[in-house]
Amino acid sequence: MTTPADALLAATATALTPSTGALQAMSERFRDEIARGLAGSGGSLKMLPTFVRQPRGDERGQVMFLDWGGTYGRAGIAALSGDGRVQVEREEVFEFSDEDKMAPPEHVFDTIAAAVARVAGRDRVTRRPLGFAYSFPARLERIDRAIALSLTKGWRLQALDGRDVVELLADALARRGVRNVAVSAVANDTVAALALLTYRVRGRDRHAPPADIGLIVGTGTNQAADMGGLGIRNLESGNFDAVTDLWVPCDAALDRDVGEPAPGVQRFEKMAAGHYLGEIVRRLVTDLASRCPVFRSWTAALGSPFGFDTANLSRIEADRSPGLSETERLLRGIGVESSTEERQALRTLGRLVVTRSARLIAAALLGTFRHIDPGLASSHRIAVDGSLYGGYPDYHGLVRRGLEDLVGPERADRLHLEFVKESTALGAAVIAAVARQNT
Ligand code: GLC
Repeated sequence: MTTPADALLAATATALTPSTGALQAMSERFRDEIARGLAGSGGSLKMLPTFVRQPRGDERGQVMFLDWGGTYGRAGIAALSGDGRVQVEREEVFEFSDEDKMAPPEHVFDTIAAAVARVAGRDRVTRRPLGFAYSFPARLERIDRAIALSLTKGWRLQALDGRDVVELLADALARRGVRNVAVSAVANDTVAALALLTYRVRGRDRHAPPADIGLIVGTGTNQAADMGGLGIRNLESGNFDAVTDLWVPCDAALDRDVGEPAPGVQRFEKMAAGHYLGEIVRRLVTDLASRCPVFRSWTAALGSPFGFDTANLSRIEADRSPGLSETERLLRGIGVESSTEERQALRTLGRLVVTRSARLIAAALLGTFRHIDPGLASSHRIAVDGSLYGGYPDYHGLVRRGLEDLVGPERADRLHLEFVKESTALGAAVIAAVARQNT
């Protein structure tokens, strides 16, 4: 006999599984928003120019990179050998606290500059070019001028909007007396992923077509795409907002309740990216607990927003122990005593939310292809990186199956999703090297 808990879970599963038709419709709206963004007639996709050229594959030499777009950042020196290889020679990782996320920008840039200064050392007088991967929305005016737009992923630096992040970095370096670094290029992480894959592919075969899309599925999600004559554009696809007819009640509540980013902003990201998936699951759990006995004893421990980390979903999915005893331990660590039935229900919820994320990502990719190659006549390379894509068991397979559902296996075979690990840092280095050759 079906218990009320089973019936509720089944209803949740249905609501969290948009039909293929609904995803097709979403991908069409995505294409329409691309057209609006490119025409400059508003809409939720900004289609920001990037001023980055596709690498030729023979770029070489030593450059610096800086990767900042979240809690952790990296500064380093990398060497490109002109044959598709790029290697980190020295690097440093730095970390920000929750307070830093609301500080004045100078505070954050001082931390970044300190790391850059330590890596750069004092042994050289010539200025090394630095590629800065700034993984937040920015309106570029040149390859080395990026005007910050509102931050995402829970960040809100005081009065950052409208300021040039390259100048903020250069000023912070000057405050420390660093004279051997020239911030010569700035790019989004999606652009870095795309450029890295093109560099690698063309390093092996000069005449290979470049990568078409850079996709990040991590704390946030976003795409950059090569729009032919219009150049590589940063879509800021996390802000795509024609998703409300795919919402379940907790998506609407999350959009309304999260202060940063504001309601109505980053709606696609709020359904698909790592910063939010754990929170969606936490909300589903609390909602079920209010309507049936399952999860009832969990509510005190899971009472605070963002109190359940998305990384837990990967660990739970990977748990092969009998009775999900590793999950039991993990839950105990956050103050939750659980039954086997509850652990299984939690795993089901996690799978549903992550599978939905992957299918949404597939539909958004298709939306971009509807613009750049509507019939999917050619094959395409998509450079993908990010903690959710790389960390959740077989997230790749979920996206792939999403694409197969949408376009059929034959055309899905023409879309090559290539995981490019560490693409933000390495891609920033490639972009610095490309910029040097073009000046
Ligand atoms: C957020 C940022 C975007 C970035 C993405 C992935 O969506 O706004 O710029 O590319 O996260 O890090």
